[in-house]
Amino acid sequence: MKKPYDIDALLDEVITLPSLPSSVAHIMRLVSDPQCALSAVAQAISSDPPLAMKTLRLVNAACYGLRQQVGTIEHAVVLLGIKVIKNLAFTATVFDIMKGSVESFFLHSIFCGAAMRALVESGHPNSQVQSGEEAFVCGLLHDIGKVFLDEFLAEECAEAAQLSRIEQIPCYKAEKQIIGVDHAEVGARLARKWKLPDGIADGIACHHDLPRCKIPVHQQVGAMISIADFMCIRAGLAASENTVVVVSDDAWRMANVTSPEIPLILDKFFVALPTVRELMTLAT
Ligand SMILES: [Fe+2]
Ligand SMILES: [Fe+2]
Repeated sequence: MKKPYDIDALLDEVITLPSLPSSVAHIMRLVSDPQCALSAVAQAISSDPPLAMKTLRLVNAACYGLRQQVGTIEHAVVLLGIKVIKNLAFTATVFDIMKGSVESFFLHSIFCGAAMRALVESGHPNSQVQSGEEAFVCGLLHDIGKVFLDEFLAEECAEAAQLSRIEQIPCYKAEKQIIGVDHAEVGARLARKWKLPDGIADGIACHHDLPRCKIPVHQQVGAMISIADFMCIRAGLAASENTVVVVSDDAWRMANVTSPEIPLILDKFFVALPTVRELMTLAT
């Protein structure tokens, strides 16, 4: 194998990142227009029946707190609003990509979504990630680059995992050494290909290495992801055993999280944990 790759060579020669399904891309475009009508979004989701079905399953999950069963996308849009429904349709798409992954990875991704939601809902929003739903999507996606590294470079990923264990270095550093590119860079490329906001793509890119991003408000997203990731790993919810994770002092400072606030954030996070299993069931 030619090593180490740079990100462009890796994506040209080895990894093909999937396009966002056209129905979801259409929904994202619609919702980016502030004048967008509820009915247009409902129609766009309903025109893709498998997507509509998966979105409704998420809408009816206990974690969204609706007191009634919702049977149609039109009703769901009225109850939850177009931004929430867009994020649920998007989440259903990400679940489809992740469902063939190792269960611990999939769970870690959903847990990290829940941790990001807890952070934002405890009074730590960011101009790029303002709502609990956006935060959940951001956490869900943070390690998605691993899905493609594992799929296309399985041997090298196993070698990197071994190096990380033996040398006690974070997995992204081991991936850099073995492959030349890490999962954060691949995940950020996917986010850009799917036309997610730059703040989310940059946040994914720098979630293990904040100086990679030069835009403070985007770097703050990376800091929030690294804290959410840390919370999961410390709670025993890592993607794999013996995960080495380091959160820099800069990350706590950038995310404006102070020591007295940590118990409050953790409370919110732990309350949400039972819903993660439910989401996992819905995805498979
Ligand atoms: Fe990561
Ligand atoms: Fe992670």
